[in-house]
Amino acid sequence: MPNIDISSQSGKDFSGDVLIVPVFSGRERHRLPLAISKVARQVMDESDFKADYLEIVPLHHPNGVKDCRWMLLVGLGAEEVVTHNKLRKAVGAAARHSLKKGWKKVGVISPSTSLLDHDEVQVAVLEGALLANYDFVTFKGKPEPKRFEMLEVFTNGDDTRKARRRLPQIEAGIVACHRVRDLSNTPAGDLYPEAFAEIAQKLAKQHKIGFEVMAPDELQKGGFNALLAVGQGSVKTPRMVKLEYKPKEKAKKHIVLVGKGVCFDSGGLSLKDASSMETMKHDMTGAAIVLATLVACAEAGAPVQVTGIMGLVENMPSGSSCKPGDVLRSRSGKTIEVLNTDAEGRLVLADLLHYASGMDADHVVDLATLTGACVIALGDGVSAIFGTDQKLVERLLDAGAATGEHLWQLPLVEEYQDSLKSQVADIKNITGHRRGGAITAALFLKDFVSHASWAHVDLGGSWSTTERDYRPQGATGEGPRWLLDWLMA
Ligand code: BES
Ligand code: ZN
Ligand code: ZN
Repeated sequence: MPNIDISSQSGKDFSGDVLIVPVFSGRERHRLPLAISKVARQVMDESDFKADYLEIVPLHHPNGVKDCRWMLLVGLGAEEVVTHNKLRKAVGAAARHSLKKGWKKVGVISPSTSLLDHDEVQVAVLEGALLANYDFVTFKGKPEPKRFEMLEVFTNGDDTRKARRRLPQIEAGIVACHRVRDLSNTPAGDLYPEAFAEIAQKLAKQHKIGFEVMAPDELQKGGFNALLAVGQGSVKTPRMVKLEYKPKEKAKKHIVLVGKGVCFDSGGLSLKDASSMETMKHDMTGAAIVLATLVACAEAGAPVQVTGIMGLVENMPSGSSCKPGDVLRSRSGKTIEVLNTDAEGRLVLADLLHYASGMDADHVVDLATLTGACVIALGDGVSAIFGTDQKLVERLLDAGAATGEHLWQLPLVEEYQDSLKSQVADIKNITGHRRGGAITAALFLKDFVSHASWAHVDLGGSWSTTERDYRPQGATGEGPRWLLDWLMA
């Protein structure tokens, strides 16, 4: 994390590498500090900059802003349609431009508008810059990460107290987002179930979070046969990790978060083709979100008890793999006919959700990169949410909207349940057709949930094929920030 300051100064005396100046289109509108506004107006007069949303223009040694090497104008578009999310993303895009240039000392002007609260604007500006401040270089020959050293936000007279008070929660959310990116971007050769469990153990110890791990023999005793079947083809054996965060005061609620942690999904004997496998190191993102969120709860002092359950396995083809046609006796006692070993996430979650349902918690939420169908339906920038408790779903949708991480509700269409009927077992793990694949996967999970308040998130938005605004290419790190928004309230 860079040194962060929120100052009520105007920014005209900023000394550093780059001053990011968000500008609304329509000249009368921007109430920028005078020296800065002069520079902005000049480029706007010459029509070199229209302040269209996400338009970026760099200016070298701008007049009137003394010790600032660069000024970066970034367009916000029309003021009438500004949102916190647009602001966060515009500042994020400018911050990523700065990051790539290697600029380390960064200032940002917090734009002035009567349409949004000052403190919310300041928070969005801070978050945009900090979310962008990420560079995955662990596996470069000479790892030289580009990261900011200093970030100053200038509010030009507006009160900074509320935003300052929120800094610990903001920072916990950013650290968690970056942690998910790091874990998810790490190749499967380095992050296999045992290694992932060790990372969780270290973090749990550092943050005084309860930690338990189950190796295959204990999983067998516990009846986690569906989870074990997914892992039985790999030399890297499965683990289940249970984390427990408890607040200092009496907890307002108890929440269980369940994460799919398939460290590599080759498809198993129902092998994926080469190109579909390229991103399958990311198939553990649900578990990464669970781990990062629990750490963030500890850092930010969340008022609720949170149990995290991570199902860590590798899905590989070999002589010992689970075979299409095999019938598994899941932890719930229900039998599952496995007709496609690539629909493995739901097998892992079947056991974990049954386990979680027995914890007498207020809510159970699972997070999983469950279906390609979700990505086809919503793209790689939106995650789907399903649930049996509409109030819970709506609270989570609100949390997504507040943090700028897209969640979209899809229905649990009851009449589709029939397509999961098996001839030989209680349920089969595929329908045999591709229609509504994200929904039928969610319906499969529902069969193993006995808790009244459950939500399932299919993480289409957890990695991106392209760089966008503050999001780098690869793992986006979405998840912990909207979860934290919910858990902190
Ligand atoms: N991990 C994949 C889902 C996935 C694929 C997420 C691509 C994001 C991008 C999951 O285990 C899987 O392979 N699902 C199959 C299910 C099918 C066999 C019913 C799928 O979506 O193709
Ligand atoms: Zn799969
Ligand atoms: Zn998978």
